[in-house]
Amino acid sequence: MSTPSSEKTKMHIDPTERAWMRAAIVVLVIFAVSVTIAGFMLGIQVPTEEQRVNPQTIQDAPPWSEPGVREIVPGEKYDVYIVSKRFFYEPSTVEVPVGAEVTFYVTSTDVQHGFKIQDTNVNFMAVPGEVSKLTTTFNEAGTYDYICTEYCGLGHAAMFGSVLVTQ
Ligand code: CUA
Repeated sequence: MSTPSSEKTKMHIDPTERAWMRAAIVVLVIFAVSVTIAGFMLGIQVPTEEQRVNPQTIQDAPPWSEPGVREIVPGEKYDVYIVSKRFFYEPSTVEVPVGAEVTFYVTSTDVQHGFKIQDTNVNFMAVPGEVSKLTTTFNEAGTYDYICTEYCGLGHAAMFGSVLVTQ
């Protein structure tokens, strides 16, 4: 049997189905535009898997053997390495200057933890075997607690640390 010509196929599309197909294309275009605006104009980042690591040996070598703040450009650019463990963060306090671009690298050595910095939109998971990365800027001085947002055991509620943002 021969396949129907495209002309014939086109004629058999129900008007309602055609309308839904048009609507689906419009929705896809809206999604594409939204993602572009979010990513390039609003700077919204989806926390991506930066790197795969071995959770058992990650702390044997730098930078993870000594997690904490690295000054890249004084006053302007900082990297922060944080290890999540049941039931604390290493380190539990980090200090960065106001207005600087701060990139957080977070991982876990045991189970899945969360990493949410209060009063900011920084919120992602800390997964064993992966490094999560996210860049933010603190525009006001103060203390911003980072808390665990994934249930990780009996000490979950007490798992937190603080970012001290100084003038
Ligand atoms: Cu760590 Cu909940």
